Amino acid sequence: MGVGVLSRYGPLLPITGDTPRVTLGEGDTPLIASRHLADEVGCQEVYLKLEGCNPTGSFKDRGMVVAVAKAMEAESTTIICASTGNTSASAAAYGAHCDLTTIVLVPKGAIATGKLAQAIAYGAQILSVNGNFDRALELVRELSDKYPITLVNSLNPHRIQGQKTAAFEIVDSLGDAPDYLAIPVGNAGNISAYWMGFREYHEAGLAKKRPMMMGFQAEGAAPIVRGAPVENPETIASAIRIGNPASWSQALTAQDASGGLIDAVSDDEILAAQRYLARREGVFCEAASAASVAGLLKMSREGHSLAGKTAVCVITGTGLKEPELAPSQTDIPTQDVEAELDAVERVLALADVSATPKQR
Ligand code: F0G
Repeated sequence: MGVGVLSRYGPLLPITGDTPRVTLGEGDTPLIASRHLADEVGCQEVYLKLEGCNPTGSFKDRGMVVAVAKAMEAESTTIICASTGNTSASAAAYGAHCDLTTIVLVPKGAIATGKLAQAIAYGAQILSVNGNFDRALELVRELSDKYPITLVNSLNPHRIQGQKTAAFEIVDSLGDAPDYLAIPVGNAGNISAYWMGFREYHEAGLAKKRPMMMGFQAEGAAPIVRGAPVENPETIASAIRIGNPASWSQALTAQDASGGLIDAVSDDEILAAQRYLARREGVFCEAASAASVAGLLKMSREGHSLAGKTAVCVITGTGLKEPELAPSQTDIPTQDVEAELDAVERVLALADVSATPKQR
């Protein structure tokens, strides 16, 4: 098996002999067993799918590689997207890798610093739109209708096709689907993609069951939970600050057909889960990504029957993307110290500790 989504899962993707086999090494991300979370929620096992380990630090790369390869096959030279940050980082990277012009529209002042830095570094043309993500998405839809520019938001079906490979990987490593799949929901492309992947593997006889799809929106940006678009979505989790998801109906299908649930979690619950993941599991993720774990914790509190069950939480992106969030959560500030041994010993209060060298 080669490197990347196209070579690993080519026969299960809509690619042809003419589709260029590009890759930045996306996919094949770790699925790790939690150390504490399973006990905390009363599951037999909780796994974390670490999508922050993708080349641009989020799950978007799985779909972007397919969308960009298909754009090249169609001889497109320009790609465009609206983004809360991760899609733009991914589009810009694959655009650069494939010599395409990349245009990204982002909500002004509302995307994480690291994501903006990525789009700048990869050389995308960045338009900071005086409006929210939903408005930016309307604009890129109009532009891609009007001009020969390829839209690489998840409205592009190739994006969903690529993203479904994460579900394949989960089944490939567990030997079957989990009982529950917990996932953050923003524009609702990813939950739709996972459902497609689990369904396809089940139909092909590669999985005995399909998971219950548990999607989690942020309370202030929970149109699917409320059943109506949210005009001014608000949440600290900027990646999922979306009021009118493009794949709304597909997300509802995933919920209904799997016997799952799309629910909302508060910003406080999201931040508590983000902190738990970092402090107890050693996994530093974006706030939006922690919505999956916040959701599982909520399910446990609300008495869902988790005993004996296996859950996978999708950790969609790395926390390094939004350093601005980390300090506000820290109750232990950094300590300044002179560059002298006795000064360091004093600060660490090592006088109280035995000075005998540790046995190795
Ligand atoms: N987690 C992260 C880190 C995201 O960046 C996104 C979406 C989601 C979860 C939600 O996934 O939209 O498929 O339901 N980010 C998009 C972007 C909107 O522009 O980067 P979804």
